[in-house]
Amino acid sequence: MLDAIAKRYSCRAYSDKPVDDALIDEIVTAGLRAPSAVNRRPWHIVVVTDDALRGQLAQVHAYAGFCAQAPVVFVIGAEPAPTDDAWIEDCSALVENMLLQAAELGLATCWVGLRGNDTMGYETEARARKVLGIPESVRLLAQIPCGHAAEPGQTKPAGPMESVHRNGW
Ligand SMILES: Cc1cc2nc3c(=O)[nH]c(=O)nc-3n(C[C@H](O)[C@H](O)[C@H](O)COP(=O)(O)O)c2cc1C
Repeated sequence: MLDAIAKRYSCRAYSDKPVDDALIDEIVTAGLRAPSAVNRRPWHIVVVTDDALRGQLAQVHAYAGFCAQAPVVFVIGAEPAPTDDAWIEDCSALVENMLLQAAELGLATCWVGLRGNDTMGYETEARARKVLGIPESVRLLAQIPCGHAAEPGQTKPAGPMESVHRNGW
């Protein structure tokens, strides 16, 4: 498992080689096996392969431009219950499963954040919702470009080790 985890890194340049539907299904299935609070599974995944839509998703904020290059973008959100703030953890677990499965399949990805808050505002989520016709009741966590890396990428070392505490702080 550590070897699989070590294959993942954030890729920001993709080739135009397509991703097989069978691989997309495997990545989605990995996501849908994630744990969720009270097993609510509040998540939704929009699989975006359309060129024009990916081009629009690349413009939702300043750090998303490479989403236009990747042949697939997974947009991850949830329809939270009124008192449910665990949707963030639920969707985060789903996203990490998808990133790891993609890496194991030899595919590159990057977690591109979408989720707004009271400080940053919610415009980014609203823009992505508009592109895909997603209802306002759905909160968006992230969009994940996925494809073949344009060039070999670099995985960062684990760390910092000072973050690890044993039997107390
Ligand atoms: C919540 C979250 C939001 C992120 N948003 C972006 C983003 O908008 N654009 C981007 O290029 N990378 C984004 N990243 C990727 C991080 O920059 C990246 O994970 C970090 O630099 C570590 O590099 P690595 O993923 O290669 O280990 C995001 C990562 C997380 C966890």
